[in-house]
Amino acid sequence: MQRQMHLNLFFHSRGHHEASWRHPASSPLALTDIRYYQDLARRAEAAKFDSIFLADQLALGEDVAQAARTWLEPITVLAAVAVATERVGLIATASTTYTEPFNLARQFASIDHISNGRAAWNIVTSWLATAARNFGGAGQVSHADRYARGEEFMTVVNGLWDSWADDAVADDRAEGIYGRAGRIRPIDHRGDFYQVAGPLNMPRCPQGRPVLVQAGSSDTGRRFAARHAEAVFTAHMAKETAQEFYADLKRLAAAEGRDPLQILILPGLSPMIASTEAEAQRLVREVNELTDPEVGRKRLSNRFGGHDFSHLPIDRPLTPADFPDPGSVEAARSRTEVIVNLVRRDKPTLRQLLAYLAGARGHYVTAGTPEQIADLMADWFTGGAADGFNVMPPLLPAQFDAFAAEIVPLLQRRGLFRTEYSGTMLRHHYGLAWPKSQFD
Ligand SMILES: Cc1cc2nc3c(=O)[nH]c(=O)nc-3n(C[C@H](O)[C@H](O)[C@H](O)COP(=O)(O)O)c2cc1C
Repeated sequence: MQRQMHLNLFFHSRGHHEASWRHPASSPLALTDIRYYQDLARRAEAAKFDSIFLADQLALGEDVAQAARTWLEPITVLAAVAVATERVGLIATASTTYTEPFNLARQFASIDHISNGRAAWNIVTSWLATAARNFGGAGQVSHADRYARGEEFMTVVNGLWDSWADDAVADDRAEGIYGRAGRIRPIDHRGDFYQVAGPLNMPRCPQGRPVLVQAGSSDTGRRFAARHAEAVFTAHMAKETAQEFYADLKRLAAAEGRDPLQILILPGLSPMIASTEAEAQRLVREVNELTDPEVGRKRLSNRFGGHDFSHLPIDRPLTPADFPDPGSVEAARSRTEVIVNLVRRDKPTLRQLLAYLAGARGHYVTAGTPEQIADLMADWFTGGAADGFNVMPPLLPAQFDAFAAEIVPLLQRRGLFRTEYSGTMLRHHYGLAWPKSQFD
């Protein structure tokens, strides 16, 4: 069979553009209204998308005055979305730095049971400096320590998910036996960061383990992904860096003894779609006019671990010297590299840089006709840059509807995307193997 793309819909505010929440074409519902999320997931399912994704941060942004982002707790949202849909995969972010592995293993196993095998966890180590202040206030955990803790975290959760054998539940009413003795066992983990006895307090989940997603891009992040991730989100502003990332991650996965086909690379794509290129560009200008450069400046500062950009003139071309060295940033190091590389290459003014970042925070932003965007997707997909895309519509739901109505049929006609789901679980949609249990 022809290789096909995997498509994920990334939920974010009323769209990924920073000013989407103000735009008349975006949803009228409150961002705390669960119907908004359930409705988006149903639209993704109708378009035969593989999955939907909710990001998360463990602190309120400092830009709340002009930024409509409501961090409804994502695992809770997944439970509500699970009962409103039947097929689409459900991915939520949760942090290895600020969660206990027992809690997390239990929550995602529950979502996998509730959704009949559609749960996935986006593993993050949490880069936000303000999050640390909400968890004991001991200061931000360093980049290296976060990943060291993350490694041990994975050992514990995988152990817990495997602590019930597939046949552990007898549920035999006549004999009076629910759980089979000997088929459920503790994990007795004692490590540097965690002491966890186990077993988990529920049966093995339908997918064996939830699908594991990751989005780290630094060297440490990539090695972590190569060991654990089955799907990888990534941000690129050019096809060349996406190709480099793709090749590197597949190589690293092979070096870990894994089949490179079992790790899907999904770069972000934020397309503004209209019937002509001029109309798409007009829409971009219309949304850009609703942005406030001071909000962008604060966000940039956050990305660079709180670095002060307030002195930078808005209309002078930037140079890499205007930024701290990405290697010294303890926050989201890889995205800072993406930004500094763009500055080196294009020498934008701060105003231009902020307008680009307003589109989708450093992911690939484009505007054009459905044919142009489908061509671009096909080019990345066949050119070793992507196994599919993390679709990030600038306006929700309007620009997702345009994607579903115009681009999906073009991809289907070219044989590049499914016309029907062939399975019920996320592992089926992504073409992933069932994880081998450590039990037997
Ligand atoms: C599409 C995408 C989604 C992400 N979602 C989250 C998120 O929900 N929460 C979070 O703290 N970080 C999120 N990240 C950040 C990554 O997990 C990671 O911390 C960041 O890319 C820095 O990686 P590094 O630490 O390896 O440099 C996301 C990144 C990407 C590309």
